[in-house]
Amino acid sequence: MHLLLVCLGNICRSPMAEGALRMRLDEAGLRHVAVDSAGTGDWHAGDPSDRRAIATAARHGVDISGLRARQLQPADYTRFDWLLCADLQNLRDVQARRPAAASARIELFTRWAGAEAIGDGAIPDPYTGGQDEFEHVWSVVDAAAAAAVRSLQAGRGPTAGD
Ligand code: 4NP
Repeated sequence: MHLLLVCLGNICRSPMAEGALRMRLDEAGLRHVAVDSAGTGDWHAGDPSDRRAIATAARHGVDISGLRARQLQPADYTRFDWLLCADLQNLRDVQARRPAAASARIELFTRWAGAEAIGDGAIPDPYTGGQDEFEHVWSVVDAAAAAAVRSLQAGRGPTAGD
């Protein structure tokens, strides 16, 4: 299973989600799931994650300092099984760029994960916020990652209608 976490800049939310999900999958020994991330925007392509995202992940024991931002590519729509989006605007952007031959399915990350009780399912953009916003993002992406792993372990697979 190939999963692509997607946000806008690929320097805050999706790298944190990638780090949290990798850690949870690793802990659970689920090695058949591959995780990557990308952004719909290209402003930060090639850059490391935002230093606040790196610091927040590090506080939770996850090193994302080696990640580099990249923009979502048409090939991602066939290379990955799921494109898992940060918020509804992001979901709409990803759907709008969908090539005719796309095979990947597109969903909100939290909804796909089956995570309950985390607001409206959006991961709020922390870019113009402070440390609290980054901590909140971590709590949301880690709750979603944990929910996804529980579903995978139960053999259900995170469900988004299937
Ligand atoms: P992200 O946050 O989508 O969580 O990576 C953002 C990063 C950069 C920008 C916006 C959001 N930006 O406008 O450059």
